[in-house]
Amino acid sequence: MEENIVESKNREIPAFLSWWQGGNRYEDNVSEDGIKLQLDFEKNALYGDKIWAQLYSGIKISYISGYEIFGNHKPLNLEIGIGNGEFIANMAAYKPEENFIGVEVFKKIFKLAEKRANKNETGNIKIIQFDAALILRLMRENTLSNVYVNFPDPWPKKKHKRRRLLKPDFMQLIVSRLKKGGLMQIATDHDDYAEEINENIKEVQGIKSIYDTSFVRKVDDYFPTKYYRKFVQEEGAYFFRYEKL
Ligand SMILES: C[S@@+](CC[C@H](N)C(=O)[O-])C[C@H]1O[C@@H](n2cnc3c(N)ncnc32)[C@H](O)[C@@H]1O
Repeated sequence: MEENIVESKNREIPAFLSWWQGGNRYEDNVSEDGIKLQLDFEKNALYGDKIWAQLYSGIKISYISGYEIFGNHKPLNLEIGIGNGEFIANMAAYKPEENFIGVEVFKKIFKLAEKRANKNETGNIKIIQFDAALILRLMRENTLSNVYVNFPDPWPKKKHKRRRLLKPDFMQLIVSRLKKGGLMQIATDHDDYAEEINENIKEVQGIKSIYDTSFVRKVDDYFPTKYYRKFVQEEGAYFFRYEKL
């Protein structure tokens, strides 16, 4: 993680990134008539260096469609913080009729995900090593079928809590990219983070839990990831699944 933060301190930062890379994620620099970023995937993976090389302070960027990435109009799903890629690789194999984009900011883990993604034979997975705050913004509004955030970093220390990803504005950004009926799917094993998500989600407009409650403690259709196996199997996690109205 340090690697990316140090890198960001040494350059002028465009303002659409999350705290990770020193930016302010709330400023909007993406529109219909900006510069098209070249998403030059090597097989199924794209490293952040290739994106950084195209960025400069004040840049205006154009949206990117699923068609430009995959060459077809299959339903589009996004996973934020894919870690070693287990979840997204399984989902892509399980649902070949849909496309999956995965985003992971941490390069070392991304390399593991790359190996998995490159074994995929259905052509429906692409992964990007960058800050999800930008990649989400690059997606047009009302286009995603599902956005998954599995076991986001809990930042347990009090002074680090501000780094947590699932603030109301970030969740509202997720929801803006979902199409009607699309789902924001969040899993965490962390009690305090679950409590914060539960509070923050009340501030997000235009969504409704698919359950009678805000979250459930068990689901039977989840691909177990490293974190799931490590922390959750016995105690259960918190699963939030909210539908865009
Ligand atoms: C606790 S891990 C969980 C990994 C995986 N989802 C799993 O369930 O095994 C959280 C991951 O989110 C990534 N992450 C955190 N902030 C991110 C951001 N802004 N954009 C992309 N990835 C991010 C971290 O690098 C880390 O790999």
